[in-house]
Amino acid sequence: MKGSEKTMNNPSVGTVRNLHEGDSRLRLDEAALDAAKRSLEKGAVTPSYGPWREDIIALLNGALATEIVCTLRYKRHYFTAKGVASPAIANEFLVHANEETAHADQIAERIVQLGGEPDFAPSTLLERSRADYDDSADLQAMIRANLIAERVAIEAYGQMIALIGDKDSTTRRMLEQILSQEQEHADELSDWLTD
Ligand SMILES: [Fe+2]
Ligand SMILES: [Fe+2]
Repeated sequence: MKGSEKTMNNPSVGTVRNLHEGDSRLRLDEAALDAAKRSLEKGAVTPSYGPWREDIIALLNGALATEIVCTLRYKRHYFTAKGVASPAIANEFLVHANEETAHADQIAERIVQLGGEPDFAPSTLLERSRADYDDSADLQAMIRANLIAERVAIEAYGQMIALIGDKDSTTRRMLEQILSQEQEHADELSDWLTD
């Protein structure tokens, strides 16, 4: 059996083999390179994604639901807080809403690149989201709800980045960029919290 066939037929071969214990040399996995020339229907997904592709797609779909709920919450706050105590804060809610939408778009695009289906189903959105929706009428309550959601997002992205590690560097880089923006959001919100 040729190396490439072995790779394709053996589900346990899912990672680049020069990383295996006992092999201290830095060499590319020739069988995985051969396999990359086949299965063209998989697009950008090559053998080094191994068995983690589906788990990564599931994690990303959780993040997608979270970003959509965050967009909805910030939009609600923007429109209802406008003209109340602080128009500047309301405008910043809109900036955050647009940034959460951009995160959702990046995540959905990556899910498709990985051969998955981005889940936009509205009926299950809230239960799949890590962050809560909020329809507080009071500006400070809005700020508090948003800060809680941002802190949950920061924790979730930190965990995802650690879980993905070197298994998918493109997704990890994307999540790191999103995480740094969520940290900026939380930082701003905590400056506005007065009680
Ligand atoms: Fe976000
Ligand atoms: Fe955010």
